Amino acid sequence: VTVDLVVSDGTVVGPDGIFQASVAVDDGQIVSIGSGNLMPKAEKTISASGKLVLPGGIDPHVHFRDPGFEYKEDFYSGTMSAAFGGVTTIMDMPNTLPPVIDVESFQEKKRSVSQRSVVDFCLLAGVGPRTTRNVGPLAAAGAIYFKTLMGGYEPEKNVTEADMMSFGDGELLEVFKAVADTDRVVSIHAESQGLWRHFLAAMQSQGRNDVAAYALSRPSLVESAAVSKAILIAKEARCKLHVVHTSAKESVEMVLRARDRGQQVTFETCPHYLFFTAGELEPLGPTGLMNPPVRSEEDREALWKAIRNSDMDVVGTDHAPHSDEEKKRGLKSIWETAPGIVGVETLLPLMTTEALKGRITLQQLVRLTSQNAAQLFGIYPKKGAIAIGSDADFAIVDPKKSKVIRAEDLHSKSRSTPFIGWEVKGVPTTTILRGQVIVDDDGELVAKPGSGQFVHPSAGA
Ligand code: DOR
Repeated sequence: VTVDLVVSDGTVVGPDGIFQASVAVDDGQIVSIGSGNLMPKAEKTISASGKLVLPGGIDPHVHFRDPGFEYKEDFYSGTMSAAFGGVTTIMDMPNTLPPVIDVESFQEKKRSVSQRSVVDFCLLAGVGPRTTRNVGPLAAAGAIYFKTLMGGYEPEKNVTEADMMSFGDGELLEVFKAVADTDRVVSIHAESQGLWRHFLAAMQSQGRNDVAAYALSRPSLVESAAVSKAILIAKEARCKLHVVHTSAKESVEMVLRARDRGQQVTFETCPHYLFFTAGELEPLGPTGLMNPPVRSEEDREALWKAIRNSDMDVVGTDHAPHSDEEKKRGLKSIWETAPGIVGVETLLPLMTTEALKGRITLQQLVRLTSQNAAQLFGIYPKKGAIAIGSDADFAIVDPKKSKVIRAEDLHSKSRSTPFIGWEVKGVPTTTILRGQVIVDDDGELVAKPGSGQFVHPSAGA
């Protein structure tokens, strides 16, 4: 037999160990893993000698803005950015226009973005008190997980998000119960509306209009109070709770305590919370602002500790592009800036750099950037593993190659990231999706728009 592809002689980071091996791929799936001389004949061979073969990255948290805000990002630019970063599956957030809150908007988005995607994609659905009846049908339609916003948004201004706001405690309980019935995971944007309003009013009444004041308007209590409440309410509702973009030490402590008591609570953090403190981002002005903001050294260290102890579930990016004009509004009034930075393209290089420095193991690297997300959201082992029968999604990484992250090299429509100028080691040189090279070792995108496929939870089983 002749197979489609053999990736030969790489250092393969599998779910249960790291070994020198070749990987044979046929019809998009891994058919054999073993020593090079035992591989079947192949149409195409890619040498991974001296390279790491990682499962393609899974970013469980991106905002690709499509449909509705294509001037910020669209599915082509967003997934292209993913492909160059070695990310082969993304999970896209529902705050598009129309927002993804019912089966109709879900199906329409799925149909539309699949024409532009160059990596595989999953779609979230938003849920709020007015839309709980849609949760069952959305789960059946393939929503990867659900999202609800506990606060930190202005209902008058953020109309796109209006139907995902569960600011009231009873509302949150009803939303969690609705998701519990589907056995999917519900994620929270964990900011307390009441506390945020309180601190924001304090800053504004002092006439503050500076970057530091932005962070002070959403201190760690704003997040941790929301996390604490959500954990209690999720327990009552018996639903699986996931905290996205975790930034505060107290949030980490509460998630771990709930888990010790047997509750299913998982959490994500993002590179910006791991690599920056508030003071370090201040010189960047509005470019460095996102919700929640980056915090203190103590918070940052608590997140790293959770990573080192293998408690942290996933590192996602909250890739949140905005136009330059929207970011620059913050130069005049910090309260008017658009919060968010891009990240999908720099996730794997940044985290691989830490693995190569020995701060985390290679096994932890692939769990945090691929395997755990696939398991948590039900698409494992189709995604997230280099194993026989899994999709042949790989990031081939050169551990000896360094490069400096430069704005002009990024593929998102936004270049708003605090990582410009950072030197990373372990750069993805080739990205492979279901056995097809999508970014080649000349750094060219070879995938056609529309080659990415929709992935949904029952596909993983
Ligand atoms: O900074 C942020 N921007 N945080 C979020 O949670 C949402 C995101 C966006 O949609 O721009």
